[in-house]
Amino acid sequence: MLIEIRNLDKNYIMGEIEVPALIDVNVSIKQNEYVAIMGPSGSGKSTLMNILGCLDTPSGGNYFFNDVDVSSLNDDQLSAMRNREIGFIFQSFNLLPRMSSLHNVELPLMYAGILKNERRERAINALERVGLADRMGHKPTELSGGQRQRVAIARALVTNPGILLADEPTGALDSKTGDEIMNLFDELHREGNTIILITHEQEIADYAHRTIFLKDGKIFTDEPNKRFKK
Ligand SMILES: Nc1ncnc2c1ncn2[C@@H]1O[C@H](COP(=O)(O)OP(=O)(O)O)[C@@H](O)[C@H]1O
Ligand SMILES: [Mg+2]
Repeated sequence: MLIEIRNLDKNYIMGEIEVPALIDVNVSIKQNEYVAIMGPSGSGKSTLMNILGCLDTPSGGNYFFNDVDVSSLNDDQLSAMRNREIGFIFQSFNLLPRMSSLHNVELPLMYAGILKNERRERAINALERVGLADRMGHKPTELSGGQRQRVAIARALVTNPGILLADEPTGALDSKTGDEIMNLFDELHREGNTIILITHEQEIADYAHRTIFLKDGKIFTDEPNKRFKK
């Protein structure tokens, strides 16, 4: 199993009060699954995403990633794990504005200590995969929203992460551009990537093959999407 979450709790401490954000959550995700996480505002989606992405640690229970108990890692081990295994894609792209597409995509490889020639080659490959072969020298301000998100997806892909974790990836895009980005996710899924998608839009969640619906910090439903049911 790629991801195993067992009896996971997350509480935020606010002064004297403990705010339960996730309560006894159990999830297993296999390699090459395509999962949407849905739920109303405040239901725990971001909290779960932060834990899945090794940005935060649970208060109780366990998170196993490829059989490694992530809950037991220290901060350094956690950030190493994050760099190797997680490709993040955000609603607001989070690109560095003064850098070319190529440079933006090379950055995670730089942090990983990969040398220049290999870095360049892998970044070019990643940009080609997202259909931006002709935009490598462009800066984010010289690109459309959809193209910026493609650069961000190339940056997420370039390290060959275990999972792609996308938080409202079409939230800042018009619906046609959003559909194009979702078609790209479909393609990446077909190529073997594992995708976890956070969204509050049903039409976006419909692209995934399984939907986990959170409510008040608990899993309310966890089912295959209709059009993929056997
Ligand atoms: N840093 C924090 N400190 C205190 N409470 C928090 C913090 N982050 C989230 N919460 C609380 O945890 C619950 C889940 O929040 P969140 O995971 O952000 O939900 P969602 O992403 O589904 O909107 C909410 O009740 C929220 O108020
Ligand atoms: Mg949120």
